[in-house]
Amino acid sequence: MSLQEELLLSLGPSTVLASVVLLLLLYVLSRTHSSSGAPGREPPGPRPLPLLGNLLQLNLSRPQQTLCELSKKYGPVFTVHFGPKKVVVLASHKTVKEALVGKAEEFGDRDISPIFHDMNQGHGILFANGESWKEMRRFALSTLRDFGMGKRLIEDKIAEECQYLIQKFEEHEGKAFDTSRLANYATSNIISSIVYGSRFEYDDPRFVKMVNRVNDIIRLAGSAPIQLYNIFPGLANWINTRQLLLKHVGMNLGDMTDLIQQLKDTLNPEVCRGFVDCFLLRKQKEVDSGVTNNVFSDKNLLYSVGNLFIAGTDTTAATLRWGLLLMAKYPQIQDQVQEELSKVVGNRRVWVEDRKNLPFVDAVVHEVQRVGNIVPMAIPHKMARDVEFRGYFIKKGTTVFPLLSSVLYDENEWETPHTFNPSHFLDKDGNFVRRDAFLPFSAGRRTCLGEGLARMEVFLFFTSLLQRFRFTPPPGVTEDELDLTPAVGFTLSPVPHQLCAIARH
Ligand code: HEM
Repeated sequence: MSLQEELLLSLGPSTVLASVVLLLLLYVLSRTHSSSGAPGREPPGPRPLPLLGNLLQLNLSRPQQTLCELSKKYGPVFTVHFGPKKVVVLASHKTVKEALVGKAEEFGDRDISPIFHDMNQGHGILFANGESWKEMRRFALSTLRDFGMGKRLIEDKIAEECQYLIQKFEEHEGKAFDTSRLANYATSNIISSIVYGSRFEYDDPRFVKMVNRVNDIIRLAGSAPIQLYNIFPGLANWINTRQLLLKHVGMNLGDMTDLIQQLKDTLNPEVCRGFVDCFLLRKQKEVDSGVTNNVFSDKNLLYSVGNLFIAGTDTTAATLRWGLLLMAKYPQIQDQVQEELSKVVGNRRVWVEDRKNLPFVDAVVHEVQRVGNIVPMAIPHKMARDVEFRGYFIKKGTTVFPLLSSVLYDENEWETPHTFNPSHFLDKDGNFVRRDAFLPFSAGRRTCLGEGLARMEVFLFFTSLLQRFRFTPPPGVTEDELDLTPAVGFTLSPVPHQLCAIARH
């Protein structure tokens, strides 16, 4: 659907005039604001039009594409105006790393766009800043580690979930089906086990609804009407997509509140079943020791749980689906994956330990993540301080997009950036090699908090499925016809498609 069509659907006709007046008002405000002036030279960029900025040059449904093109013209640090909003874009591996790692503090705040403010109210981890964010991030990381991120405990949980997933794939008896729903249930169950201490059945109606809503939320959050709302928040009441999105968020918050309440009712201080229990016990400890400014609040609990659920489900499931789709598209690579798996693992369960003896499989999993490029612009950052960067001045509070697309497809780093090529991660003797420009989880202060967990999940789900099934296009569809264009969304998933999972043994 084109932007114009989406806009027509989102805006009622009677509101056009009011919108124009509002836009003019916003323009005047933005001019007043930007005239405060910044010392030094700002990064270059296309000349902005009044009010619209560079909107006419941007594909709002796939902004990462336009931004990659603009970086060819304006260099690795450039300015682009999303309407009146000024954004500094960081492109290429060297630039993103130099900023996010070299100047981690300065580039390390989160930009909280209007829709994410509506959704989180400044609580939780993903869209929060300051002391509260720091405490929540630290607490989430240490709890994830306690619950086995990188340890055997969670490996067993993932292995158990693999069996459920395999069973569901088997039920399709080799006939074509869409892998999306099942992949999402499986990855969601891993994060649920960590957060709540238990998994859900794939036919549990509440669970099914929650996972489906997460998918809808992510899809809608990346849609053109929501981008427009982020640029012109004054349009809030006219953008129906926003209302729909917030309805889904509200319903998920309601379900999560119920789940948390059940855990509160059955809390035993001696046994920590998951993240929620640990949080509740920590909260009580802070209260008992008389801490007044307690960030371990009910709101922070609810929104952190929501963040882990939303950040941990769709991303990992999308990666897995890219993996299966790419295997169906490139059957010779699938042959090599399966040969190595048969030789090294055979029919027994795959362990994370096996990874070091599976260099080709490891290279394929990395290449899937590189090409999948599922979070193409990271999550927007905001300058925590004024900074001089590469001869440019970037003012405190400026929104910054670390363009991960430009890192994962960097022409100076990858031999064949636009081709699926596992050799990117292999030396001439077939050994696995790490690559510095492999940054799908971003880097620095805001780097993905679930990286360890996600990598374990992707490896174990992918290998367990490839051990059991041969993935092919549906009958009548050729490998060439399998579409690798990503769907529109805040994260890049494959477009809806069907595959056959044919049992191997
Ligand atoms: C393949 C799967 C995944 C990918 C590619 C991915 C990627 C990312 C990226 C690019 C960011 C933004 C970093 C930045 O702003 O610079 C991020 C943030 C985050 N991710 Fe992941 N992620 C994945 C899985 C997970 C999982 C499983 C969890 C849950 C445990 C998770 C939790 C988070 C959280 C909480 C943040 C926000 C961190 C902060 O703002 O401090 N992610 N992720």
